[in-house]
Amino acid sequence: MLRVGLTGGIGCGKSTVAKIFANLNIPVLDADEIAHRLVETGRPALAQIRQEFGADILNPDGSLNRKNLRERVFSDFKQKQKLESILHPLIFKALQAELEQLIAPYCIVSVPLLFETGMTHLVDRILVIDCPVEIQIERVKTRDNLTVERIQSIIDSQVSRADRKAKADDLIDNSGADYRLAEQVKKLHNLYLSLSAFRD
Ligand SMILES: Nc1ncnc2c1ncn2[C@@H]1O[C@H](COP(=O)(O)OP(=O)(O)O)[C@@H](O)[C@H]1O
Ligand SMILES: [Mg+2]
Repeated sequence: MLRVGLTGGIGCGKSTVAKIFANLNIPVLDADEIAHRLVETGRPALAQIRQEFGADILNPDGSLNRKNLRERVFSDFKQKQKLESILHPLIFKALQAELEQLIAPYCIVSVPLLFETGMTHLVDRILVIDCPVEIQIERVKTRDNLTVERIQSIIDSQVSRADRKAKADDLIDNSGADYRLAEQVKKLHNLYLSLSAFRD
């Protein structure tokens, strides 16, 4: 099975594109979703986070106080690294396990920090969703209601647009309207199907 890593900066349109592939009946694995599940109440990763960050990282009911954690990791690079050192190996393992279960000509593995985490080893090919930084900021502002400064600091913590583009095997330009997106996905879908025909 051909494994296509889907990545791109915050707000570039990864989830939007992943949904179009899913609608074509292609399995989509999502590192963000896995990360979300890993820190559900009672999971071992949450206990580890509590140990590292202290009891006030949890709500009174024992669930993760996501807002609190977000504030902590965005105001302190060391804390961000600490969180990532807990989560990234677990995400990697979970993705690997899910990949082994899949039967399909190809699959999409959506990993926002594909380059930053070295998870490129998990995939055969890299698809980058690209748009100008100004559009990223506009979209995230509308979606997440964050300040421009906060969005900019997230963008600065990710690899640069030029870097991502240089490392891409395939590129989707998502600076335009939605219908162009479906068209671009369909073309890649056909490419991936034909590439997968030459694999086992
Ligand atoms: N081509 C587009 N036209 C208009 N809005 C878009 C387009 N692509 C994405 N969006 C919107 O921009 C926001 C960010 O897209 P999303 O797919 O969530 O990005 P990511 O998963 O990369 O962070 C979402 O609210 C989405 O609905
Ligand atoms: Mg997303």
